[in-house]
Amino acid sequence: MVITVVNGSPRSNGATATILKEAQRYLAEKDGVQVQYVDLSKLEMRFCKGCLACYRTGKCAIADDEVEAIANKVKASDGIIIGSPTYGSNVSGLLKNFLDRAHFRRLARRADDMEARVSPAAKEVCRDPGNVERETNHLIL
Ligand SMILES: Cc1cc2nc3c(=O)[nH]c(=O)nc-3n(C[C@H](O)[C@H](O)[C@H](O)COP(=O)(O)O)c2cc1C
Repeated sequence: MVITVVNGSPRSNGATATILKEAQRYLAEKDGVQVQYVDLSKLEMRFCKGCLACYRTGKCAIADDEVEAIANKVKASDGIIIGSPTYGSNVSGLLKNFLDRAHFRRLARRADDMEARVSPAAKEVCRDPGNVERETNHLIL
């Protein structure tokens, strides 16, 4: 089983990283669990330009940075832990841009094609795409 840990803090070694690294250490001790750690602050990441190509093609049109590859790694994972500092009572801009660029909404809309991998909560997201933010909030530390 592969679990991806995503640090959405601009500070690689801040409070968010401390919590996520503890989670990573705990998971790494479990048999059969492989943990991959993604530090968004280290990624070259352009802003989402709102072209909606991801809605049509399932792929981001911006091909000259690392985000699509990282997003694919996340999507191929069995589980994900996302950490973010609170900025203005929300997630960091860094994490928000990653969520936009990674077009997880598109993934959610395809959830019915992935029966075995999708939780009932994710199905609820499909019924009401406006649920995406609320659902993502459950994942954020
Ligand atoms: C721009 C900015 C906005 C913030 N807004 C909030 C906030 O609304 N509420 C809060 O409790 N903390 C807020 N904080 C504090 C951070 O959430 C807090 O310092 C966090 O632990 C930083 O995480 P890090 O060490 O991973 O960078 C803000 C910090 C910054 C830099």
